[in-house]
Amino acid sequence: MRSSYRFVGDVMNDRIVVLRLGHRIHRDERITTHVCLTARAFGADGVVITGDHDRSILESVRDVVNNWGGPFWVEYVSSWKRVVHEYKDRGYLIVHLTMYGINLPDVISEVREGFKRSGGMLVVLGGAKVPGELYRLADYNLAVTNQPHSEVSALAVFLDHLFEGREFNREFTGGRLKIIPSPHGKHVIEEKKG
Ligand SMILES: C[S@@+](CC[C@H](N)C(=O)[O-])C[C@H]1O[C@@H](n2cnc3c(N)ncnc32)[C@H](O)[C@@H]1O
Repeated sequence: MRSSYRFVGDVMNDRIVVLRLGHRIHRDERITTHVCLTARAFGADGVVITGDHDRSILESVRDVVNNWGGPFWVEYVSSWKRVVHEYKDRGYLIVHLTMYGINLPDVISEVREGFKRSGGMLVVLGGAKVPGELYRLADYNLAVTNQPHSEVSALAVFLDHLFEGREFNREFTGGRLKIIPSPHGKHVIEEKKG
C-alpha cells in the first residue's frame, strides 16, 4: 500500500530521502511529524513513513509546505523492505542511523564521497523496534554518538555534517509565508503569488 502527498518535485530527481520505520498512530504522531519537519528544514527532499498509516501526519506536513514552501514530499508505504530494495535498485546509498553503528566522525567523509558517486541517499531511522535485517541491508550503520537519543536529533546532526552547513542557505519556494530574520521579535510576510 502506498499513499502520498508529492507537493513539489519529482522523486526521480531527489537526492536525499528519509525512511522513518514503524510509526505508531497516536503514540508517535509528534515525533514522526518532527522527523518530517527536520528532514525538510535540513535539506532532505522527502520522507517515506512505514508502520501505521496516519493521514494526519501527511496532512500536517502538507500544511507546513503550503505555508512555508518546498520542494518536499511525504509518503506512506506499508513495507519498509520494499522501500529499501527500491532505493537500492536505483543506486541510492542506504545509511541507517543507529547508536550501535560506526561513530559519525569516523565515517562521514567516506559517506559523503559515496553519496557523490551514488544516485542519492536513503537515510533510515528506526522506531521502537528495528528489524535485524536492516543492519545487513544498509551500506552504513552510522551512529551520531554511541549514546541513545532520538530520531530527530540523529537526523539533524547527520544532515548538518553531511552538508557541512550548506542547508542553512537552502531556499524554499512556493510557500504562502516567509520569515524576515529579525534580532528581536517576529517578522513574517505573505508571499505574493505570481
Ligand atoms: C528512540 S530510538 C530507538 C532505539 C532502538 N532501541 C535501537 O535499536 O536503536 C529511535 C531511533 O533514533 C535513532 N537514534 C537514536 N539514537 C541514535 C544515535 N546515537 N545515533 C544514531 N541514531 C540514533 C535511530 O534511528 C533509532 O532507531
